[in-house]
Amino acid sequence: MTQTGQFTDGPVLGVETSCDETSAAVLVGSRLAGHVILSQDAHERFGGIVPEIAARAHLRQIDDVVTATLAEAGVRAGEIDGVGVTAGPGLIGALLVGLNWAKGFAYALGRPLVGVHHMEAHLYAHSVGAPEVEPPFVALLVSGGHTMLIHAIGWENYRLLGETRDDAVGEAFDKVARTFGFGFPGGPEIERAAREGHPGHFRLPRPMLASTDHPGDPAYFDFSFSGLKTAAALLAADLTTAGGSARLEQARPDLAAEFQEAVLDVLVAKTRRAVEYTGCTRVVLGGGVSRNGRLRERLASEMAGLADVHAPPPRLATDNAAMVACVARHRLLAGKRADLSLNADPAYPFPGLVPNILQGTTCIRN
Ligand code: KG4
Ligand code: ZN
Repeated sequence: MTQTGQFTDGPVLGVETSCDETSAAVLVGSRLAGHVILSQDAHERFGGIVPEIAARAHLRQIDDVVTATLAEAGVRAGEIDGVGVTAGPGLIGALLVGLNWAKGFAYALGRPLVGVHHMEAHLYAHSVGAPEVEPPFVALLVSGGHTMLIHAIGWENYRLLGETRDDAVGEAFDKVARTFGFGFPGGPEIERAAREGHPGHFRLPRPMLASTDHPGDPAYFDFSFSGLKTAAALLAADLTTAGGSARLEQARPDLAAEFQEAVLDVLVAKTRRAVEYTGCTRVVLGGGVSRNGRLRERLASEMAGLADVHAPPPRLATDNAAMVACVARHRLLAGKRADLSLNADPAYPFPGLVPNILQGTTCIRN
């Protein structure tokens, strides 16, 4: 059965539970009227997300999170005009909680529902409550589960230029942080420590940056972080062998600075390649790693004169429901509706994303 209620651009409720943040948001028009993000700290002692704990926490929290969001927005449940929920990708148990909650809510109120792709939501995050950056643009999406370089030709008309062949960049930050002895999540800890250290004191590889690559070679835009992660682990092991844990601790700021610079050298260079290849004059950043201040700083300075960089405010870079509501409003305005058969799917397809077929295609310029 399809939810048939008319959407008249009234308040949109967004719900996000794909990983370890329980979040709800209310958009009134393009204004973010209410937004609650409840992060689960129960995972810290395990050094990573435990899927079962995440799902159970969402279940406990979702009602309260939505209630608090509606109160902050000054909107009653019955005034919600449309609902958007992350349907995937993500942890299946976690996704199921938000999706079924949103389905029940939409059905009870007779309001239309749309399923949202988590990474497309990251692509919209910069435009929450801000003037929208219209395609064409290059999007660099960097999170704990994905690393994607996308040419957005139009809305729902996306070409995947490159992606990671192994670990996502956020995952590499988290795992390398653990080998260096930092807490979880590792990204913010590495960024903090790197401010006190010097890149170049130790040397780590810059994967897949070979100068012989060209756009016809898939390696030109793709990423790989597992070799870098191994190199960082070997370096940490050598330091510990040479001088024990005290030596590793003393080296941590320099290790963090070198690891961060190695990752950013790759991210910035590949984004630059994408800008040159597509001719786009705008770059959109999204995903948890885009919270990194050094990434923002480097992209802005190294793209100067080539492209403007649009990044979400830090709170909207990591997982949140405001970006989900933003995609949902777009889709609802375009007349899209999900069926009540909508299900959570860890492999939920990215709407309108096609692989890059370089041979025989012309470069699309704006
Ligand atoms: O988008 P996100 O909140 O969740 C996923 O969709 O995966 O991204 C989480 C990731 C984690 O790996 C975390 O370490 C990373 O974003 N992250 C950072 C920073 N803040 C969060 N990585 C580097 N620097 C940061 N400041
Ligand atoms: Zn995310």
